[in-house]
Amino acid sequence: MLKSRMEKFYHGSVKLLFVGFIVGLVSFSLTSTATAGGKGKATAKTGDMVLADSCSQCHSISRVTAKKGLTVAAWNKIIVTMQSAGANISVQDKEVLANYLAATYK
Ligand code: HEC
Repeated sequence: MLKSRMEKFYHGSVKLLFVGFIVGLVSFSLTSTATAGGKGKATAKTGDMVLADSCSQCHSISRVTAKKGLTVAAWNKIIVTMQSAGANISVQDKEVLANYLAATYK
């Protein structure tokens, strides 16, 4: 009696696990298609894309690229200042941009 209950419980949880796995898989593929369809093909933007997207609303991009020889940390500081001015940039894009700017405009 007890044993068959345990068995039912066991089968029940295996089923639940399986359903959970499928749901996870489906929602994962749904979100990745959604992100891929949204902006460009790749999920991660390159530095020049971030620059064009987030840094050209208030001043020209040449205003940014006129700065030379800054470190990643110095660029991060500037980006934070621009964020407080109203620039819209994600944490992930911020890192990409700071690295790109430091490596490109020496
Ligand atoms: C919400 C508006 C806005 C956005 C978006 C913006 N900036 Fe600015 N930025 C300013 C303002 C205002 C100034 C200073 C005024 C000026 O001279 O144009 C400035 C100036 C600058 C300067 C010159 C600073 C100096 O010391 O000469 C740099 C470099 C710069 N921005 C980088 C960026 C970067 C990188 C981005 C993208 C992350 C960005 N900005 C996005 C508003 C903005």
